Amino acid sequence: MRLHEKFGHVLTLATLVNAIPSKSGHTSEPSCRFAHHHSQKQNLQYSTSFINDMLYWEGKFHQNNISYNSNNGISYDGSNIDWVTGEATEKHTFSAASKESLQIMLYAHAIAGSPEAARFLSPENLAKAPTTAASTMQRKLQTYLKFNETYPGFGGFLPWVTADIQDITPRSDWANARLRTHKNYRELAQRWQVWMDYTKTTAAKIFYKGDGRVCAVVEMKDQSLPVSHSDQTYVCESKDLLDDPFEGEIFTFWLQFFGGLSKADKETLWEVKKPQSVSVDYEMGGFGPITIQKGFWFSSHKTWKVMQMPYYDIDIVRRVFENAERVRTCNSVATKLPGMFPSINNITDPSTGDVTGYISNADIYGSTEATRVDGTGVSVLLTWDSKITTVVATLGGVNGFVRQKMKADNLYDEFVDIIDAEYSRVFKHLKGENVNFCLPQETDCS
Ligand SMILES: *[C@@H]1O[C@H](CO)[C@@H](O)[C@H](O)[C@H]1NC(C)=O
Ligand SMILES: *[C@@H]1O[C@H](CO)[C@@H](O)[C@H](O)[C@H]1NC(C)=O
Ligand SMILES: *[C@@H]1O[C@H](CO)[C@@H](O)[C@H](O)[C@H]1NC(C)=O
Repeated sequence: MRLHEKFGHVLTLATLVNAIPSKSGHTSEPSCRFAHHHSQKQNLQYSTSFINDMLYWEGKFHQNNISYNSNNGISYDGSNIDWVTGEATEKHTFSAASKESLQIMLYAHAIAGSPEAARFLSPENLAKAPTTAASTMQRKLQTYLKFNETYPGFGGFLPWVTADIQDITPRSDWANARLRTHKNYRELAQRWQVWMDYTKTTAAKIFYKGDGRVCAVVEMKDQSLPVSHSDQTYVCESKDLLDDPFEGEIFTFWLQFFGGLSKADKETLWEVKKPQSVSVDYEMGGFGPITIQKGFWFSSHKTWKVMQMPYYDIDIVRRVFENAERVRTCNSVATKLPGMFPSINNITDPSTGDVTGYISNADIYGSTEATRVDGTGVSVLLTWDSKITTVVATLGGVNGFVRQKMKADNLYDEFVDIIDAEYSRVFKHLKGENVNFCLPQETDCS
C-alpha cells in the first residue's frame, strides 16, 4: 500500500448535484493526424479547434477493455498496441489510485456538463456523457464497497489492484450484479460522500505515526482485519516519509482537515515538510536567472496537486508555477529539443514490446506514450498517466469543484493561509518573471 499514489479522493462529488446536461451535437471525425492542420499562429490566437481535435482522439482511449473495465468501473493502467495495425493487443490488468483519480476528475467534469469532457467521452452524442460518467461511478463505488468488505484493512484506501476481475483484489506483489439506475446524481454523490467520510476516520490510524511523520508506504498485518481491530497493525515499510511539497501534500491536507489530529500534531505535519521545499535559480542558454521550485525530472506528479486543489488562488503559487513553465519552454529552446521534458515510459523494444527504460505519436487511440525525436522508435503503450493528465489539465483540473466544496465546509481560508505561508517563506524575491514563455523552435521531428 503506497501512500503517494493515494490522494485521489479529495475530489468531492457533492458539487455534482448541480449538473447541467450539455446539448447533443453533431460531430465529424477530425483527421487522426490533426496536428498538421493547425499552425502555431492559429493555436496562439484560438486554441479551441486544436483542443477539440485532441480531445476527440484522446477520447478513443476511453473504451471498455482498453482503459477501464465497464463491468466494475475500475480503470486499467493502460494497454499495449500492435506495432503494425495499432490495434490494442494486451492490457495492463492492474490499476492504482492515480489512474482512478484521473478517471474520476474527468467524470466530474462530464457530470457537471462540460462540453469538452463530453467531446472526450462521447463525441457522437454529447448529451450522453453525464449518464455515461455517472453509471461508471456507480459501478466503481459498488466495487470499492465490495473491496472494503473483503479487505477492510485498507481502510478505504486503494493499493495497486487487479482490475480485470469483477471484484478487485490487492496485487500480490504489493502485499456481476447489474446496478439499478439512480434517479439523479444527488444520491450517487451522497453515497460517494459516505465513502470519503469513511477514509477520514481511517487515514490517521493507518498513516500517521506522530511528530508530523506520515508513512510513505505502510505494511499492514492482515488485509482482512478491520482498521480498528486489536490485532491489526500498521508500520512504515521504510524510513521514507510522505513529506514532499508536491502531490503528497494533498494527503497532508486530508490529515490536516479530517485526520482528527491535535493542533500541535497539525503544526508538525508542516514542520517535517519544510526542508523539501527549495528555491533555485535556472540560467542556461541566455535564459534566466529564473526562480523556480526545485524538483527532479518534471514528472506530472510534481504538479498534480494544482489539478486537484485551488492552489492558483494563491498568488505566489501561481507565480512560481509560471516561472517553472518559463524554464520548461525555454530550456527546450536552449537545448534544441523539439518538445518539453516530461517523465514517461521510454520507447519499447520491437522484439519484446518491453519498455526499454524511463525517459507522441498518432494512433487510433490518440497519442502513444513516447516517440523518438528521430522517428526510429515509438512506445506501443497507452496509459492514463501520459495521455489523460493532459486532458484533465486542459479541462482545468477539478480545483473549481473543490474550491466550492472547501468554501462550503469552511476549509478554504485555512488552506490559503497554510500554503501562502509555506510558499512565502521559501520564495521571497522571484527572478525572471519578465521572461516570455518560449515557443517551440525545433518543429520538424520527421
Ligand atoms: C479484451 O482485451 C484483451 C487484451 O487485453 C483481449 O485478449 C480480449 O479479447 C478483449 N476482450 C474483448 C471482449 O474484447
Ligand atoms: C468499510 O468496512 C468497515 C469495516 O467492515 C466498515 O466499518 C465501514 O463502514 C465500511 N465503509 C464503507 C464506506 O462502507
Ligand atoms: C531509452 O531507450 C533507448 C534505446 O532505445 C536508450 O538508448 C536510452 O538510453 C533509453 N533512455 C533512458 C532514459 O532509459
